[in-house]
Amino acid sequence: MVLYQFAGGGTTLVEAKLLNRDIIGVDVNDIALERCREKTDFDIENAKGKVYIKKGDARNLDFAPNESIDLICTHPPYADIIKYSEDIPEDLSLLKVKDFLEEMKKVASESYRVLKKDKFCAVLMGDTRQKGHMIPMSFEVMRIFEDAGFKLKELIIKEQHNCKATGYWKTNSVKYNFLLIAHEYLFVFRK
Ligand SMILES: C[S@@+](CC[C@H](N)C(=O)[O-])C[C@H]1O[C@@H](n2cnc3c(N)ncnc32)[C@H](O)[C@@H]1O
Repeated sequence: MVLYQFAGGGTTLVEAKLLNRDIIGVDVNDIALERCREKTDFDIENAKGKVYIKKGDARNLDFAPNESIDLICTHPPYADIIKYSEDIPEDLSLLKVKDFLEEMKKVASESYRVLKKDKFCAVLMGDTRQKGHMIPMSFEVMRIFEDAGFKLKELIIKEQHNCKATGYWKTNSVKYNFLLIAHEYLFVFRK
């Protein structure tokens, strides 16, 4: 069973179904959950993964027993860069960086609890900029997962297109061969 907390638009639910993997998508937002239901409501031959969609908080996965999950794929909000709701109290996208990171400790510890030993937990995270300074939030999240007990297996850089900074930096970064914030990190941890 795959766990996909912060399910949002449900991309990974669709891919899991296509790959014949059973998956649980968790989100606090009813609109996101409805979108997940719509997107995964298809029949394709050989796409037999079962999709379970659940309203819940990634900081408290009490529906999942200890060591019951085979793989975690997760894509948390990047603190409050994009607010996914206006007033859902459990929505971590309403929190400033410091409070967001504090709450991510609970997400990391729940992830560690529910994952089977030796299995993988993949976390997609980006960084931000505040008042002209770089905030390397993704590395803070990486440390939080390490502190929860995970070991980093791979660090994958995913190029990000069409983000706010892309147009501004693109020409010079291609010309001089450097990357500013135009990517996200996919941290692959092992329990
Ligand atoms: C970055 S989006 C996920 C995007 C998704 N990976 C996709 O491909 O569309 C973040 C999602 O996290 C959800 N969220 C915020 N706080 C949460 C929490 N405490 N527990 C579970 N989901 C939460 C938001 O409602 C939002 O849908």
